[in-house]
Amino acid sequence: MNPDFLVIGAGVAGLRAAIELAEAGRVLVVAKESLQESSSEYAQGGIAVALSDDDEVELHEQDTLYAGDGLCDRAAVRKLVEEGPAAIQELIEWGAEFDREGSKLAFTREGAHSRNRVLHAHGDSTGREIARTLYRKAASLENITFRSHAATTELLESDGEVWGAWLHEPVGARAVLLATGGLGAVFLNTTNPDVATGDGVAMAYRAGAVIEDIEFVQFHPTALHVEGAPRFLLSEALRGEGAQLRNAGGERFMERYHPLGDLAPRDVVSRAITAEMIRTLAPHVWLDFRHKERGFARARFPRIYETCLRYGIDLETEAAPVAPAAHYAMGGVKTDLHGRTNLPGLYAAGEAACTGVHGANRLASNSLLEGVVFGALAGRAMREEAGRAGGSRGVPSGGEPQGMEVDVRRIAWEDCGIVRTAEGLKHAAGLLEGHLDRNEALVAWLIARCALAREESRGAHFRTDFPEKRAEFEKHTLVRRDGNIEFR
Ligand code: SIN
Repeated sequence: MNPDFLVIGAGVAGLRAAIELAEAGRVLVVAKESLQESSSEYAQGGIAVALSDDDEVELHEQDTLYAGDGLCDRAAVRKLVEEGPAAIQELIEWGAEFDREGSKLAFTREGAHSRNRVLHAHGDSTGREIARTLYRKAASLENITFRSHAATTELLESDGEVWGAWLHEPVGARAVLLATGGLGAVFLNTTNPDVATGDGVAMAYRAGAVIEDIEFVQFHPTALHVEGAPRFLLSEALRGEGAQLRNAGGERFMERYHPLGDLAPRDVVSRAITAEMIRTLAPHVWLDFRHKERGFARARFPRIYETCLRYGIDLETEAAPVAPAAHYAMGGVKTDLHGRTNLPGLYAAGEAACTGVHGANRLASNSLLEGVVFGALAGRAMREEAGRAGGSRGVPSGGEPQGMEVDVRRIAWEDCGIVRTAEGLKHAAGLLEGHLDRNEALVAWLIARCALAREESRGAHFRTDFPEKRAEFEKHTLVRRDGNIEFR
């Protein structure tokens, strides 16, 4: 039987939306791999919220706007920071256990935050704790069912309305939520799980949805760089707790690039590391935590400590090799503040969506908050608006994406990565052009084309041929199915 609501993606945004939807009908939540395999699961550092004694919603707002480098949607930022405290309270009521100092919540600092406002759980497993809490809540609601290992290959759309999705078979629904997460796995080096191939953006684009600001990809400065190992994230919270970046010669270099040193905004740190790697001909730099007292790394960052140990690095006695990796997509399927896309029946939330809340560069630890706040808002809107009955109409044949992954990832990394040029972006777009039936290739092609059109450097988008910010580009890129790019 078809569900009333189809939620594609079982990370924080999808689960939070499903909880809202359960009041109004049958909800099917589908995950491409196991239900745990989402970017939320890997989010370490924390969830930002203005809840500490010396913090204010306005300060969180200012920091988010500053990081966004002129492109944040102010109403979306306001919504995020204002609804944040209640969203956290709700998570705590549903059983989330954030770390505490005595009876008070413990807040840490991350790059570009003016206050200690990052909550964390089990030291460095914040996303896992929030996803676990939401999953438990969702699983307790009769109306929600889950299906794992169910890749969605296309949205079902007729006359501009979305009425379901193809999951080995057509599944109709009154409304569909894309909560498919990010697109880091389109790049050769990424902190994201393999499932993060931008499927939501690709499917929405093919169905006729508007894609916004897709050229803005955040590269996290410190992914573990060990030959043959996944690019495991070494949280910015390590630097928040005093870890130091050093180049191949052992020199601390960040002061030469930014007054905030190791805690400069992420885009600055990623470019500085890249410059040092090129200058010293080294494949990585070092993240050094050796000066902290014995036992601290193990106790405060147990998951990171154990993972590094598995790859032969004891963080308490050795520096870890690190290099930047693709981490987060600021752009995505264009939505309003309630998850609505331009296609009736289709909603999006979390990293797959672009509300404009992150502008050109996301403030650290705002993404889990985005997932819970905008996931709930999208769920509410779907519940109230989706009046049509799900059903089946003419369906396209669903094709499984296959092959090619490695080449797309290399092209994206080399030509659409941390440092971009017109030549590289044209090269990437040309190579990818013939493969747009594959999600990864389509997403990388959209990134290349929008990055080429944006002849400036802003936030996470850096062009050596246009190294400055330009006032005429203080606009969003919008791209539609006809491939035309518009700045608005
Ligand atoms: C981190 O822990 O460094 C990642 C947090 C984030 O991306 O917001």
